[in-house]
Formats: sequence, C-alpha cells, structure tokens
Amino acid sequence: MDSIIIQSGPTLNGKVRVSGAKNSSLPLLFSTLLAPGAHKFSNVPELKDITSTAELLKSLNCGFSQKGNDVEVLVEDAKNPEAHYDLVRKMRASVLSLGPLLARYGFARVSLPGGCAIGARPINLHLEAMEKMGATIKIVDGYVEAKADKLKGTVISFDGVTVTGTENVMMAAVLAEGETVLENAAKEPEVLDLANYLIKMGAKIQGAGSSIIKITGVNALKPSTHKVMADRIEAGTLLIAGAITGGEVEVVGIEPVLIAALTQKMSECGFKFSIQKDSIKVHALSKWHGADVTTAPYPDFATDLQAQYMALMTVAHGTSIISETVFENRFMHVTELMRLGADITPKTKIAVVRGRPGGLVGAPVMATDLRASASLVLAGLVAKGETKVSRIYHLDRGYEKLEEKLSSLGAKIRRVN
Ligand code: UD1
Repeated sequence: MDSIIIQSGPTLNGKVRVSGAKNSSLPLLFSTLLAPGAHKFSNVPELKDITSTAELLKSLNCGFSQKGNDVEVLVEDAKNPEAHYDLVRKMRASVLSLGPLLARYGFARVSLPGGCAIGARPINLHLEAMEKMGATIKIVDGYVEAKADKLKGTVISFDGVTVTGTENVMMAAVLAEGETVLENAAKEPEVLDLANYLIKMGAKIQGAGSSIIKITGVNALKPSTHKVMADRIEAGTLLIAGAITGGEVEVVGIEPVLIAALTQKMSECGFKFSIQKDSIKVHALSKWHGADVTTAPYPDFATDLQAQYMALMTVAHGTSIISETVFENRFMHVTELMRLGADITPKTKIAVVRGRPGGLVGAPVMATDLRASASLVLAGLVAKGETKVSRIYHLDRGYEKLEEKLSSLGAKIRRVN
C-alpha cells in the first residue's frame, strides 16, 4: 500500500492548474446511462473514483475509454440494469446510477451503499422522491429495487439539502411524464454542470444552481459532448497549501466565485488574494489569525474543505471553533492532527482548535477519508521533520496528481510503496 512522505521546510510558490471536478465527473458519467450512443467528455480527472465508475458502466454493457483527461462512454442497452454491491461499496456515488437506470429501463437494482467514515449517509431522500414520482421501491437483500413503468412529474420538496439526491432525482425526471419541481434542491455548482450536460442531451431544465429546479420530461435524449468544470475543492486545497507554508501560490483555471466562502474566511484570518477571471493567488503571510467557521451547503463554506481549513488553523495565532453541520462524524482527522502536535478539543459537532504557530512536528499518521488525507498532507508541509501519511488510497480517489502539483510548487513530497 502506498504512503506519502513529506519533509517540512520549503515555502510553496508558483502557479498550478486545477483539474476537472471529481464531484462533477461522477454524475456526468452516470448521466450517460440515459441515452444510447457515444458521449464525450474532456477535463475528466484521472482518479480512482473514475476507474470505479468505469467498472460500473462496463458492467452495464457500456464501452469506456479514457485517454488522459478525455473520456468516451459508449452506451448500449444493458441486459440487467443492476449496480452490484462489489462496485457500489468501493464508491458510494455509484448510487447515482439509480435515477438514470430507473428512468430509462423502468427498473433498477442498485446496492445500498452503507455508511462510511464520515457518517451514516442514508439515501432516504433519493428514494422518497422517486416514490413520489410513482416508483415502487423495495429493499431486498441489501439492494434497492425500484420499478416504474413511467415516472410521473410532481413537486418534490427535499427535507434536507442533498447533492447527489438532487442529481439523482433530476436525472430520473428528465425522461418522466410531465413537470417535476424540485424544492430545496442543492445549489452546488456541480448540480448546474450536470444540468448543462442534460440540456445538451435534449433535456428541459430550468433553475439548476438555485434551490428550485423545474424539469419537463422529454421522450428521449441524445449523447453530446462536455467539458467538466474545475474542481473547487482541489483549488481550495492548493490555496491552503500555499497559505500554510507562508508562500504565494496562484491557482489557475478556477472561477474565483466558486471558492468565495473559503477566500472570505481566509481574508478574516489576514490573507490577501489577487483575483482574476479564472485564477486566484494567495499572497505570502508569515502570521495569520484563527477564524471560526461553520460548514453548510453551497454557497456557504464547503464541508469538503473543513479538514484542510482545520490544518491551517492548527498553526494560526489564536483559537478557532470549527462547526460541522453537514455530516455527523467528520472529525476523523482531528486525532491524527493531534499526533502531529495540534491542540484540538473535539466535541460532537464542533472542534476547538488552539493554534500553535510553528508547533507541529512530523510523525506517521493515517488517512481516514479523502479530505482528511488532504488535511494531513497540508499539516505535513509545516510539521517539523518528516511526516508519513499512510492509507493514501483515499487521496487517490479524489485528487489528481497531488504530489506532482505540490512538488512543482516546491514541496518535498514523495510516494513510497
Ligand atoms: C456530496 C459530495 C460530497 C460532499 C457532500 C456535501 C459527491 C459525489 N459527493 O455527497 O463530496 O461532502 O455532497 O457537500 O458529489 N442525507 C440524508 N438522506 C439522504 C441524503 C443525504 O440524510 O437521502 C444527509 C447526509 O447523511 C448528510 C447530508 O444529508 O448528512 C448531506 O449529504 P449529501 O449532500 O447527500 O452528500 P452526498 O451527495 O452523498
């Protein structure tokens, strides 16, 4: 199993290009199941989660080829519209196959994903919405079995904001009979990116990116081409990498508004930014202050940046309180950061971080989930001596060539087996 070894010291400086978004690529790739033929995407990151999606699509009789960041999915009829447990357990976003399969075949059998390191993560909101659209849903042997000769448009008011739930139901609704209105829909930019592709395929969707989405069902869709949007979480992680080392890093290929909640928070800490149309540069700062943060759905502070921001707070001047409101158990990185010398008191939904500028010391640590891994790498950049982060298969699920990108900025980082 691979590990990453980081030597502290260098200040990171320079320009780095952000990759395509994992959380946009996954729903886009699953949306291909809605229309037979060849779908073409560019800017798809080379990641473990994309390989897992490819495996699932292949099991559904699709051709899948990736050359660098270009992907072609050749969709043919699936004999058996099923997402097997062996594939779903590797990646919970596989549940995004449910909406498209049900809409196209009138039947789908998709394994329940189960819990994960950051919480129970049920899919009740996905299922309730599809039931409201006329689907009969049964749970049989750990699988969701959904059936509907023809889904029918209706008004769905989500009890909570769910990103993949919004995406799944939007994909189910594009081939449904009549109009579906999604209220309290997720406003994440990745939902909009998916809607833009569905529209290219011939879907009728209004309001994606806002909390009310209207979808008028059509009879059939056709494949199209699409460039995946930039990964705002990777962009934020790279900016924090520059900031935590006191360097000047410019992240290129990202619309700055997509990470405004992070840059506003970092401005409160004292950081200054140069903002261009598609790039953002953090300026070098030797001393920054702690600032409290609360995660919430977009456009507020992303839960997917909470762990990385916490790493920055561990070496800030002063105390910060980090509140996690999206997931119930997303502080697994806290005890690992404490192994590096961070002073953190975790409570149920908050963590109190007493910053210790220059106070981290390298140690072996273990990644527990995707964003936690990134947080440990960031802390490793400034923890005196050597930090070894093991179980980095989590990192490979969602960050494209992170070590290469950090090395290009001057980090001393290498992968070992
Ligand atoms: C997506 C992102 C993930 C991000 C998360 C929140 C993808 C592939 N993943 O995950 O990186 O951290 O959004 O921004 O896009 N919930 C329910 N019932 C449901 C669905 C969700 O109770 O049916 C709860 C979850 O347990 C969680 C909260 O709602 O507490 C938000 O989850 P959700 O937005 O659904 O996260 P994902 O879509 O799985």
